[in-house]
Amino acid sequence: MPERIHEVTAFLAEVLTPRAPLTVIVDGGDHGAAARFAARLAEAFPPSARAWTVDAVLGLSGPSGGRSDSALNVLEPAADRVFVYLRGRSTANGEGERRAQVVIDHHDPQWPVIRHVHPRLADRERWYLAESRAFFAVRAAGWDRKFGDDLPAYAMAVETAAPRPGDLALDVGCGTGRALPALAAAVGPGGRVLGLDLTPAMLRAARDAGRDEVADLVIADARRLPVPDAAAGVVFAAGLVHHLPSPSAGLTELARVTRPGGKLLIFHPTGRAALAARHGRKLGPDETLDREILTPLLAGAGWHLTRYEDQEDHFLALAERIRAQ
Ligand SMILES: C[S@@+](CC[C@H](N)C(=O)[O-])C[C@H]1O[C@@H](n2cnc3c(N)ncnc32)[C@H](O)[C@@H]1O
Repeated sequence: MPERIHEVTAFLAEVLTPRAPLTVIVDGGDHGAAARFAARLAEAFPPSARAWTVDAVLGLSGPSGGRSDSALNVLEPAADRVFVYLRGRSTANGEGERRAQVVIDHHDPQWPVIRHVHPRLADRERWYLAESRAFFAVRAAGWDRKFGDDLPAYAMAVETAAPRPGDLALDVGCGTGRALPALAAAVGPGGRVLGLDLTPAMLRAARDAGRDEVADLVIADARRLPVPDAAAGVVFAAGLVHHLPSPSAGLTELARVTRPGGKLLIFHPTGRAALAARHGRKLGPDETLDREILTPLLAGAGWHLTRYEDQEDHFLALAERIRAQ
């Protein structure tokens, strides 16, 4: 299997080579990681590009480890300059990220994962699937060990969505399937539950946990669900919506597969502020799940928000599929 670092640097080299001559500046990461990453990136450029099309690949590190005064903040952006920012433990909320055209999750230097590429450099479709899968695949096996005691919260959330006996219930971005037993109990033997997820490793973990006994597990992208129009009574989406490249397009697709009057439950077993703090961030004003942002986003996608709770120990937004006029 190719090294992950190689997959990432080869992709960046492929995207950046045609744009040369170019200076690529890498910043962020922990303990000299930027310089090491820059060296690997330089190696990934084809020899011809190394000889004349790429001026330099520099590894810089901000005075405070990139946290508040990243090198990227003092350099001027320019058409022939690309900023690459590594998110690491000491740079998780790094300000340098704001001006980077490429952001890489670098918490595990053995497993870097691309989290953002400016659309002018590469269409998201070229990297989104592979990198999302890479991000979640390494987390799949330990997911339930890490978060397993949240199960009662999932049962409570399913109760809020109130699936009807006989319904088709979807858990989109089901991960290891923590909501599936509660969904299956609610729809009963006459109903059906589908757990859909992009990451095969997550569905394998769901199967290993025996959740294939209560639901069908399907590899699928939330942006193009293999489900007919208006088929579902309830759609459950825990920890999914803010991961989608276009939340509005994702919510529209969830609306397509839901019957009029059907429910969508957006859930997380941790409140938004607590979750941001866990990731070393503060909540910003422009977050998708902020009530002021989510309400019109849902309305534009065919949903009416009926309940919104953002507490220390959970987040939930319940919406109803708007009936056709
Ligand atoms: C934060 S995890 C939550 C997993 C699970 N719902 C839970 O609450 O334990 C997000 C899940 O969404 C999946 N995912 C991310 N983007 C997706 C997409 N476009 N389509 C389907 N699943 C996606 C990931 O593979 C991952 O399993």
